[in-house]
Amino acid sequence: MASKQNNTNTTKSLFAESLLRIAHRFSLAHVFDDFLTMSIAAFTQNLQTGLSWYEDEYLETIARYKDSDLRFAFQEALGHLVLEMNTRLGSSEGNDVLGEFFEQHISNGRNGHYFTPYHICKMMVLLNYENETYEAEEPLSILDSSCGSGRMLLAAHHTIGPGHEYYGIDIDRTCVKMAAVNLFLHGMWNSEVLCANALFPGDFVIAYRISFHPLGIFKIENKEQSRLWHRHNASFQKKQSAGESITLNTVPFSERSKDDGTQLDLFGNPPPV
Ligand SMILES: C[S@@+](CC[C@H](N)C(=O)[O-])C[C@H]1O[C@@H](n2cnc3c(N)ncnc32)[C@H](O)[C@@H]1O
Repeated sequence: MASKQNNTNTTKSLFAESLLRIAHRFSLAHVFDDFLTMSIAAFTQNLQTGLSWYEDEYLETIARYKDSDLRFAFQEALGHLVLEMNTRLGSSEGNDVLGEFFEQHISNGRNGHYFTPYHICKMMVLLNYENETYEAEEPLSILDSSCGSGRMLLAAHHTIGPGHEYYGIDIDRTCVKMAAVNLFLHGMWNSEVLCANALFPGDFVIAYRISFHPLGIFKIENKEQSRLWHRHNASFQKKQSAGESITLNTVPFSERSKDDGTQLDLFGNPPPV
């Protein structure tokens, strides 16, 4: 146990170190975003050409670092990331290495970018899905409409298992890429992460589909091709056609009474009985 803990810390610092080393010369926020862009390209191979589906984007991104040996640090960081996530798989602190790095080194809590501690995510999932090995007849659709790094979805996946559909929406493009990489590395196939303002029906910037066959993280640039966009949009329309008006509660949380509704029932999955 002690050696596992040491191992975790060492690998964690190596992942962070690789990116921080590049950031001596470049902005860390850009370095992290570029790391995610290149990871997505690296995971998404076109078997016919043997190249990435996003080869041009990869080359364009790495070109920013062309005069520097630091360009090799990206591959190194990806290796450390995978190792550390693997080491921490199943641990009580979760293995959202990307989200922790983003919080500690980039967002510092700006723009509401505090992510929920893993054990709280886990508790929230258990409150909804009591049985650790929940088996539904139909796959569940689980949505975090402000998903950040996707940590809540990872906790859901660790608890209720594969075979369900995991969806995330975030307004921040770096968070969307981070969640997509997290879902991919956890084998959460058939999932999608959408970049949009979740409060506005129809909003769409880009989406990423996590797929096993073909293997990769595929960009969806046309909203009509996004399953999540259709479902999210339909959930607003369903409410409106049922005569419900959707109004956003502008009262600060601290001033709301206990029973004030604050949550749209987006996908409307009933919890299992
Ligand atoms: C407090 S974090 C929570 C992340 C994650 N749900 C968790 O529990 O760890 C809030 C996230 O919501 C995103 N966000 C804020 N307003 C949003 C909006 N209108 N639509 C979609 N995402 C939004 C932010 O970018 C941020 O990543």
